[in-house]
Formats: sequence, structure tokens, C-alpha cells
Amino acid sequence: MLEGRVTVNGVTVSELGTKADPAADDIRVDGRRVKIAVRHRYLLLNKPRGYVTTRSDPERRATVLDLLKGVKEYVYPVGRLDYETEGLLLLTNDGDLAARLTHPSHEVPRVYEARVLGIPDEHDMQRLSRGLVIDGRRTAPAEVRLLPQRRDQSDATLVITLREGRNRQVRDMCEAIGHPVEHLKRVAIGALRDPRLKTGYWRDLSAEEVDRLKRATAAGPPPDRGHRGDRGHRGDKGRGGDRGDRGASGKRGR
Ligand code: URA
Repeated sequence: MLEGRVTVNGVTVSELGTKADPAADDIRVDGRRVKIAVRHRYLLLNKPRGYVTTRSDPERRATVLDLLKGVKEYVYPVGRLDYETEGLLLLTNDGDLAARLTHPSHEVPRVYEARVLGIPDEHDMQRLSRGLVIDGRRTAPAEVRLLPQRRDQSDATLVITLREGRNRQVRDMCEAIGHPVEHLKRVAIGALRDPRLKTGYWRDLSAEEVDRLKRATAAGPPPDRGHRGDRGHRGDKGRGGDRGDRGASGKRGR
């Protein structure tokens, strides 16, 4: 370092003790990239309403990272859930898997339960499942079913499986058929489900769950690392603490 042979993100550093993050920074010695094995972490969070799915928010609202006390790794959300949406959210520092899961070619199904105002009829259900035009673009076919309800109910719960991830897609689809969403929850990401994971809690995925996700996204084009890799996720302060498999009961984030 003292000889000026080390660079971090293109800047020569010669001060001993300079800190850098091997997962996020481009560290080089004599121009050669130093690769340090990063331990991958895969977390499943049951996101409550009222949290943004980003690492930091310009409006200083609570973020999903605030729920992950005790997680030291630079995990970041895979895809997003709206501020008002609850349910399953995957967070990881495995850039390859994140890129694969969010790549349109993999079409990992996401399942949502949407409580909507009024009762959609057969025609509404067909529009949702065949696809309807939102912002000038037709949505991909979706599986949609109505959960059984009492006769006197004034709202309905739809179970909607999407294979694409457009912004506010479920809300916009339901709005388009005249049945706005009152409450939205994601209940599955591919084979990942966990009805026992309480809202606001998280847990590590099991090795088998990680394996399944990897297999589900193995075919198709290689991940676009420019889109989102193991890099570019700076800003976490490191949240210290323990880890371990906490089982389905999860760990309270607050
Ligand atoms: N669709 C939505 O409308 N919101 C979400 O958070 C996820 C899917």
C-alpha cells in the first residue's frame, strides 16, 4: 500500500487501515482485481406495510433494511414491494441469483393475495388472466382465482400469479377492471412460501430453498452483471450481531 500499488475504485490508496468493502468495491493490486470470497446470504422477510423496499430512502421513511437488525452482510432486496404492500421479500448479497430472479426470461412466478373492493365478475376475471393494457402495454397472461367468500361480503380476495414484475402491476390491473386493491400481500416467490413467518420477521433460507431457486433460474441467458451484481450496494453500515437458522418462527427485526 505504501508503495502506491493498491487502488480502490480507481483511486490509489496508500494509507494503512483504509477501509474497503470486497463485495462492493473494485480493489486492485498492481492493476489486478483482488477477489475475496464473499459469503452469500439469502433472507426471506415478511415485509409489513409502511416500509420502502430500498436500502435508503430520500424521504427518510423506514426501509426493509431497518427490519434486518443483526445481518452483517450487504444484502439488498430482489425486486420490490410497494410501500403499502406486505408479504414475502427476498434479500441477498448474491448478485448472480438476484439478476437471474429479476430477469424477465426466467419468469419465476410471484403469487399475490389482493383484497379488492367489490366482487369481480367472470368478464373481469378473464380480462385479468388474459392480460389488459396498462400504460400502453398489455400485461402477460396471469393465473387468477377468486377465494370463496360469504354472500353478504362487499369485497373479494383474488389470488393472482404473475410471471412479470411491472411496477404496481397488481394494483394497476385491479384498478383497470374497476376493483381497486384495498390490501395486497405477496404469498409466494416461485416455490418459496412461509405462512408461519410473521409479519416483520425474517429468516435465512435453507440450503434446499436456495438450491431450488438456483435450479429454477439456471436455464436461460447468463446474468447481466451490469444490471445488478455483487457490486454497487454500498451504504450499509453493517448491522452486527448473530446469525443462524432460526426456523420458521424467524427473527423480529425491530
Ligand atoms: N404489484 C403491486 O401492485 N404492488 C406490489 O408491491 C407488487 C406487485
